[in-house]
Amino acid sequence: MFAITAARIDKTNPLSGLEAGERPDPAPPEGWTTVTVKAAALNHHDLWSLRGVGLSPDRLPMVLGCDAAGVDEDGNEVVVHAVIGDPDAGGGDETRDPRRSLLSEVHPGTLAEKVAVPRRNLVPKPPELSFEEAACLPTAWLTAYRMLFTRAALGPGSTVLVQGAGGGVASALIRLASATGHRVYATSRDAAKRDRALRLGAYAALPTGERLPEKVDAVFESVGEATWAHSVRSLRPGGSIIVCGATSGEAPPAELTRTFFLQLSVIGSTMGTRDELRRLTEFCARTGVRPEIDRVLPLERAAEGFAAMEQGELFGKVVFRVGS
Ligand SMILES: NC(=O)c1ccc[n+]([C@@H]2O[C@H](COP(=O)([O-])OP(=O)(O)OC[C@H]3O[C@@H](n4cnc5c(N)ncnc54)[C@H](OP(=O)(O)O)[C@@H]3O)[C@@H](O)[C@H]2O)c1
Repeated sequence: MFAITAARIDKTNPLSGLEAGERPDPAPPEGWTTVTVKAAALNHHDLWSLRGVGLSPDRLPMVLGCDAAGVDEDGNEVVVHAVIGDPDAGGGDETRDPRRSLLSEVHPGTLAEKVAVPRRNLVPKPPELSFEEAACLPTAWLTAYRMLFTRAALGPGSTVLVQGAGGGVASALIRLASATGHRVYATSRDAAKRDRALRLGAYAALPTGERLPEKVDAVFESVGEATWAHSVRSLRPGGSIIVCGATSGEAPPAELTRTFFLQLSVIGSTMGTRDELRRLTEFCARTGVRPEIDRVLPLERAAEGFAAMEQGELFGKVVFRVGS
């Protein structure tokens, strides 16, 4: 089958390890099944893998990709849940299984014509969603869904800040939080991306680091070092930061004094459960909320999407069309 792989790890020039070519078809073990991929989406995770974060050299070459929508062995349209874990080992939540992994970390990923996954990792694709839209949901959108609805536990009509508006996770947060009635501030380094954040439903969009006109109940962080101090300073007393990533670095000042004095909470969040993914797909089908897609490319041109993500050019998701 045709696939996009990490062939080498390079921390400074990650795209030099990217290869496109033929790989063996998956050989699913007992309890697993093979999905014929129709669309797959790119995540920053794929760039981290090429830098050797979460992917060790002894596992190379590795098929990249966490997100896919396609057709299962019985002809059903499905969305693939990327978390390979045992809910029983995580107290009923596979994201808390200490031995969990994401597709492309231990098992071959989704940037391929076929991907093998445990049978329980298939979620029905609602007919209202295209394969391209459904392929955006399993990582960035699921992470945003869990941050907003499971981890933040916000009351209706809250005021929130989303840092780095252009990102896959961030654009999902803007869309989901505004669609559910929160007042959403967003930041971005780029004026055109701030305009697009407004069109997604943000109440206001500001340059990265600019002071907000009011304090917020919660900040959604995936940027890390470049925005952390601003996130802490933007919270009202008792507010929360929900953090899922640190794209710009993970060593910001901790801001301990402000954290204890204002009784702030810092809440980590990672991916989501299969059940959360199923509810997210149904939410999108019922509400008309759809992922913001920056561009759709044939899988053969995956390197263009990786380069645009590395350059920070994107607003929303890059989707790869697979097969005819
Ligand atoms: N824990 C989990 O389960 C989980 C799941 C998904 C993602 N993540 C992590 O979350 C992060 C975002 O993922 P993604 O797929 O959404 O990435 P992405 O689409 O590449 O978005 C990254 C965004 O971060 C902002 N950014 C990057 N560098 C910045 C800087 N120096 N200053 C200010 N803003 C900066 C950019 O916003 P602007 O260009 O608009 O300024 C950019 O759009 C990644 O680190 C990823 O690994 C974690």
